[in-house]
Amino acid sequence: MGRTYPLCFWALFTIAAFAHVATARDLRNVTEPKTPPVCTSLKATSEDDTELIQKALDACAKGKAVALSSGTFYSGPLTIPSGVSLLVDSGVTLKAIPTPKLYDLGGNTCGTVDKSGFGCKPFITIKGATSSGIYGKGTIDGQGGEKMTGTNTTWWKLSRMALNWGLFQNNPRLIQINNSVDITVYQITLTSSPFYHLTTSEVYGFTVWGIFINSSHATRNTDGIDPTGSQNVTIAHCNISTVDDNIAITAMTAPARHISVFNNHLSHGNGMAIGSGIKYGVSDVTFSGITLNSLTYAIYIKSHRASDGLVTNISYDNICISRSRYPICLDMFFDIFVSDRETDYQNISFNNINVATNGTFVFHGISDSNPIRVNMNNVHISKHSEWSVSHANITGAWKDDSVRRCGFYGND
Ligand SMILES: *[C@@H]1O[C@H](CO)[C@@H](O)[C@H](O)[C@H]1NC(C)=O
Ligand SMILES: *[C@@H]1O[C@H](CO)[C@@H](O)[C@H](O)[C@H]1NC(C)=O
Ligand SMILES: *[C@@H]1O[C@H](CO)[C@@H](O)[C@H](O)[C@H]1NC(C)=O
Ligand SMILES: *[C@@H]1O[C@H](CO)[C@@H](O)[C@H](O)[C@H]1NC(C)=O
Ligand SMILES: *[C@@H]1O[C@H](CO)[C@@H](O)[C@H](O)[C@H]1NC(C)=O
Ligand SMILES: *[C@@H]1O[C@H](CO)[C@@H](O)[C@H](O)[C@H]1NC(C)=O
Ligand SMILES: *[C@@H]1O[C@H](CO)[C@@H](O)[C@H](O)[C@H]1NC(C)=O
Ligand SMILES: *[C@@H]1O[C@H](CO)[C@@H](O)[C@H](O)[C@H]1NC(C)=O
Ligand SMILES: *[C@@H]1O[C@H](CO)[C@@H](O)[C@H](O)[C@H]1NC(C)=O
Ligand SMILES: *[C@@H]1O[C@H](CO)[C@@H](O)[C@H](O)[C@H]1NC(C)=O
Repeated sequence: MGRTYPLCFWALFTIAAFAHVATARDLRNVTEPKTPPVCTSLKATSEDDTELIQKALDACAKGKAVALSSGTFYSGPLTIPSGVSLLVDSGVTLKAIPTPKLYDLGGNTCGTVDKSGFGCKPFITIKGATSSGIYGKGTIDGQGGEKMTGTNTTWWKLSRMALNWGLFQNNPRLIQINNSVDITVYQITLTSSPFYHLTTSEVYGFTVWGIFINSSHATRNTDGIDPTGSQNVTIAHCNISTVDDNIAITAMTAPARHISVFNNHLSHGNGMAIGSGIKYGVSDVTFSGITLNSLTYAIYIKSHRASDGLVTNISYDNICISRSRYPICLDMFFDIFVSDRETDYQNISFNNINVATNGTFVFHGISDSNPIRVNMNNVHISKHSEWSVSHANITGAWKDDSVRRCGFYGND
């Protein structure tokens, strides 16, 4: 972390029962999604299929899906209309053509680095839609490791250059869903996004079920699933291996609440994060039945002082962590800006946690008058772990007697 703060560490070994779990979840009753019926089936031409796919989507009846049924499709940006879904069948791949000008937002910056990184539109956009989705056992490939047309630089290499220069890459996100209701992403494999894989902004009713994200070769900012300012969210039965946050819940333009994250397997990357960018507050979230392996961070809450808000009613239940440098990190100093507004972490509970290997547990609050408040119940950590605690009130107990393997999914 490279930072030191005065340590005022206390741990009260009492069991405080927190009774806030009732609403700390997606308020919908979510079950496994069903793939909608097909309106049109398309075969890949091996040319640029953007127009073919977009026309089929625009003509598809609400409640139905355009099926990509055989071959490898190459396409530029696509928009999925309200009520319509995209189905990528098993064995089929939809690849994003790596030509920056196809994604450019008008400033000729897509495919370059600058100070903002907002120069590209996403590969797949859903906006202002009700009951749309992306389905199928096929793959959507962002081709982040491919050279951008007419250059010797891949999207990921551009990200690396931006990182080295303290700037931002203008790369397309893979899937962006904004201001929509009742959106489903089911079974699909998402791979090699040039930027974030699956991001929402103000989506109410968002189900992500059984998807696979594999981009552990990427360089930077290839977050897995980022629900932003969204409510009634379920992320279940997913396997996410990436660089940067596997899942990050943020609240930059609206509150994020009523979120259930369960039975997922996360590896590489920065685990399951809340923040940064939580100005409107994050509340009523349960993470349960999750294994996390080979990560820098596993459980991570991060905020900065300038614009960040309340994080409360967060529950971490039945979680196993192995090979993580920071198994739990709650850090109000993720980014320091001068401001009089303070972020606040309350009602955060850890229940039935096993941390199989040693690491550093970080709880950095801002002041004693407003400490991070967490409760621990049945928390088992590895011997030789380290703690870095300041301005935190940790109630409950932990023991350094963890089981050395995580067995939920039969792999450690
Ligand atoms: C914390 O939980 C308690 C008990 O359920 C509740 O009364 C209180 O409002 C919660 N605090 C916040 C900030 O959500
Ligand atoms: C947290 O949960 C408690 C009890 O369920 C509820 O009273 C409180 O309003 C919640 N806090 C927020 C900020 O929603
Ligand atoms: C969810 O299911 C429970 C139990 O069957 C029921 O009481 C509740 O009303 C349902 N909630 C919604 C939003 O459908
Ligand atoms: C969340 O789901 C519940 C239950 O279906 C519903 O009553 C509520 O309006 C939903 N919230 C939002 C913001 O859509
Ligand atoms: C890419 O590299 C090759 C081999 O070094 C070189 O011949 C070619 O001119 C380069 N192309 C561009 C667009 O820089
Ligand atoms: C979607 O929302 C994000 C975050 O609020 C914003 O940056 C982006 O421009 C929006 N995209 C579209 C297509 O509206
Ligand atoms: C993950 O993606 C890489 C390419 O980025 C591929 O080589 C590898 O086979 C994939 N792994 C799985 C399990 O799909
Ligand atoms: C998750 O995917 C990885 C490949 O990225 C694979 O090795 C692992 O077995 C998968 N885990 C589960 C639980 O499916
Ligand atoms: C923590 O685990 C690592 C990897 O297994 C090991 O190399 C290291 O010695 C351990 N640290 C302590 C203090 O035991
Ligand atoms: C820590 O929190 C508990 C319960 O919320 C409270 O009873 C206790 O006084 C607090 N301890 C300190 C040192 O503030």
